[in-house]
Amino acid sequence: MISKIVGNITPSATCELEGIIGSMKKDGIDVVALNIGEPDFKTPEAICTACKKALDERKTTYVATAGVPELRQAICHKLLCDNGLSYTTDQICVSTGAKQALFNAVMAVTNPGDEVIIPTPGWVSYVEMVKLVGGIPVCVPCRSDFQLDIEAIIAAVTDKTAAIIINSPNNPTGAVYGLESLKRVAELAVEKDLYVIADDIYEKLIYGEKQHYSIAAISPEIYERTIVINGMSKAYRMTGWRIGYSASPKSIAAGINGMQGHMTSNSTTFVQWSAIEALRNGEAEVKQMVEEFSKRRDYAYERILQLPHVQCTKPDGAFYLLPDLSWYYGKKVGDKVIRDSFDLSEYLLSEYHVAVIPGDAFMAPGTIRIAYTNSMAEIGRGIDRIATALAALSD
Ligand SMILES: Cc1ncc(COP(=O)(O)O)c(C=O)c1O
Repeated sequence: MISKIVGNITPSATCELEGIIGSMKKDGIDVVALNIGEPDFKTPEAICTACKKALDERKTTYVATAGVPELRQAICHKLLCDNGLSYTTDQICVSTGAKQALFNAVMAVTNPGDEVIIPTPGWVSYVEMVKLVGGIPVCVPCRSDFQLDIEAIIAAVTDKTAAIIINSPNNPTGAVYGLESLKRVAELAVEKDLYVIADDIYEKLIYGEKQHYSIAAISPEIYERTIVINGMSKAYRMTGWRIGYSASPKSIAAGINGMQGHMTSNSTTFVQWSAIEALRNGEAEVKQMVEEFSKRRDYAYERILQLPHVQCTKPDGAFYLLPDLSWYYGKKVGDKVIRDSFDLSEYLLSEYHVAVIPGDAFMAPGTIRIAYTNSMAEIGRGIDRIATALAALSD
């Protein structure tokens, strides 16, 4: 019999959809992919060269669980220069993707029965991670502009609350949280003795005037209560390389390190050398990519706004749009009623061959998530298909 904890897990909607699209493509179906949560740009050449060099030098052995000192040093340097955060290498743990770093963080601060606050819409895995460690996810809806609803967060805190997960820029909304609301979360965490898990993975993907603030930098008190999560996947186009990291107060870092030592040990040694190259010399290519995403964001947003009865908040970061299509719920295709975002996404994929993620997967039931991680032409083709599909629905 499978354990209760594992039996209670909902598989990742984003990962599952990949399998379905893969087999449609294999059958020769021309699917427009607006579902993909990774940049369509290739990993920069210098990062690949650093990996080949590390392999030639046979950097292929076990190393310290928390990562090679050179990488942890480069991470400390990045956190100081980009975020104004001062860490020593014993506060850093390099993990197999930001996903593992996040899981480690949740595990490190949650006892069975503890509550963890998750602002929603939110990334698919937070709720499941909390459930996996025996905690209780407490979802707190954001405001209609997708900014944090601080009053609702305050109201959700109980004597069982252990932590709050903050993700800015946000997946799936693209919202970037302002300094004022982060200060209020920080005050709350200090007052109520909570941890903050700050998922900064989309930090560099911001368009326009907004700025990323690291909550840990707000005060020495919140620094002591924050686990900063970041990684190489989104900014340096290294999704498949699986490198992420956490930076935390020393006692938490020691706990995370001890735990990871029993789970995966160090993340892949020669890949760590590529991450060093990315952190030291990768900024120019990040900037180029951000310029392109900025154009695509504007284009996709303008096109989505033209769809009848569709509302959309303009995102400031990440690479997603989260339009509200709930006006179409209750409409029909033949005899079948479109009841929710699962039905709508399934209809778009099966009948019009355009892949999006149902908003329900992110606790945003009226919406679908559209990723602009595809060429301008493909984004245009995908939105054309969505327009045709919506127009074909009847009362
Ligand atoms: C908000 C958020 N956090 C973390 C991750 C995981 O990143 P990684 O690929 O480094 O594990 C993702 C990936 O989609 C994400 O969207």
